[in-house]
Amino acid sequence: MLFQTMYISRSIHPQGHLSDLEIMEIATQTNQGIGITGVLLRDKQRFLQIVEGDKAQIETLLDKIQSDQRHYDVQVLFSRKLTQRNFEDWAMAYAEIEPGVFDQFTELKFSDQLVLEDGLSRIRQHLPATQ
Ligand SMILES: Cc1cc2nc3c(=O)[nH]c(=O)nc-3n(C[C@H](O)[C@H](O)[C@H](O)COP(=O)(O)O)c2cc1C
Repeated sequence: MLFQTMYISRSIHPQGHLSDLEIMEIATQTNQGIGITGVLLRDKQRFLQIVEGDKAQIETLLDKIQSDQRHYDVQVLFSRKLTQRNFEDWAMAYAEIEPGVFDQFTELKFSDQLVLEDGLSRIRQHLPATQ
């Protein structure tokens, strides 16, 4: 079953730290191999990540991510079944964004389907055209 989860967390490192490159390296490699796609947004101190793929793979990955010491205070904002991916072109897209813009995404009412879809398409606008 195709599944999608979004969470926010607090990074132990500031924006621009080498640690983000290391995360992205392992993420793109691993995700490509197991059919996971998604996006990792970053502001000065926070991460916002969306991962999508097979439900069992997503659950295993989230267990790993949640126990990763490079961030803390991981809060899942929503999880849902998908019929179609939202980030199919990216094993893991990465973008650094302004705190104000970051807040817009975290404050969405994700229980409302239209609000959620609109939020996702606004997140896509912050990404490069393709990987
Ligand atoms: C914010 C954040 C996002 C991450 N995203 C991914 C990801 O999308 N895919 C992935 O394989 N690992 C990701 N990781 C790294 C995992 O937590 C873990 O270190 C990595 O999967 C290697 O795990 P393993 O050595 O136990 O196999 C992320 C880590 C952090 C802190």
